[in-house]
Amino acid sequence: MATSAAGLVVIVGSGIIGRSWAMLFASGGFKVKLCDIEQQQITDALENIRKDMKLLEQSGSLKGSLSSEQQLSLISGCSNIQEAVEGAMHIQECVPEDLQLKKKIFAQLDGIIGDDVVLSSSTSCLLPSQLFAGLVHVKQCIVAHPVNPPYFVPLVELVPHPETAPATVDRTYTLMQKIRQSPVRILREVDGFVLNRLQFAVISEAWRLVQEGIVSPSDLDLIVSQGLGLRYAFIGPLETMHLNAEGMLSYCDRYGKGIKHVLKTFGPIPEFSGPTLEKVHQAMCVKVPDDPEHLAARRQWRDQCLMRFAKLKSQMPSQ
Ligand code: NAI
Repeated sequence: MATSAAGLVVIVGSGIIGRSWAMLFASGGFKVKLCDIEQQQITDALENIRKDMKLLEQSGSLKGSLSSEQQLSLISGCSNIQEAVEGAMHIQECVPEDLQLKKKIFAQLDGIIGDDVVLSSSTSCLLPSQLFAGLVHVKQCIVAHPVNPPYFVPLVELVPHPETAPATVDRTYTLMQKIRQSPVRILREVDGFVLNRLQFAVISEAWRLVQEGIVSPSDLDLIVSQGLGLRYAFIGPLETMHLNAEGMLSYCDRYGKGIKHVLKTFGPIPEFSGPTLEKVHQAMCVKVPDDPEHLAARRQWRDQCLMRFAKLKSQMPSQ
């Protein structure tokens, strides 16, 4: 597959994720066309991006080597997909999580694209085999699943369709690196991909521990934010094992039996309803009342923390 020299990336859907991708690609010096069916969404997105980039620049957190004005000049809105994709090297779909809607868009794109563009979906949980089934350009299709907020959480899961060409995966991997995201290759599609499978395993056991009255909901969250999470921001669970003994072999030798013993005591899949839901809901609302204002303020605080943390991480010596 030849790589287009144009350096144009098209984003389809200018909501939360589409806007973030637009900022990330512009930070890497790519020309970006932001498409939507709603003209107002495009206008709002361009305004928000301008505001966000200015704030990021003021706080020294703007990504890339270009100024905010230079990055902003790379992004334009477009309400006609057919016009937008002319000369594109990468198309990043970011429409709502609805299989039929996404399939319709991919079918439309399939009919108008050439052989040298990557067609990528931001889907959180739809499988590539569902999304890209029957497309003529299936070899050029891939899922690139970001983590919210993508500007501060760099992981991108790359999930191929069984017929995706290795060159498509490689090219998308390199593109993600160019915009300073952290791509990982998921070798075979699986429900939940990998990040959400890990997340759901943690949620599941957290819920059971609260349900069984072993720990309060607020202490459960502290165990992650003041314990596990601090380590996991720098090393994963496998490296944690390696470092917590004299290497992996020594860890499994010492602790393998104990871990298996504990794992056998894990309970069934929680229902996420009933009295435990009530208990967890109440505890969360004590901390953050669930009205839009409090939730928005807390999300803003979370993003500020993530922004400062991302800066700190970038200053740490490389591995
Ligand atoms: P959103 O609802 O904020 O934005 C979707 C945008 O798509 C809207 O601007 C809408 O007008 C536009 N749209 C709808 N139909 C369209 C069409 N036919 N053509 C062009 N634009 C169209 O959604 P959000 O949160 O940005 O999610 C987008 C995708 O990213 C979903 O697949 C979601 O699962 C995935 N994702 C979302 C994350 C999140 O935390 N929000 C995290 C990771 C992935």
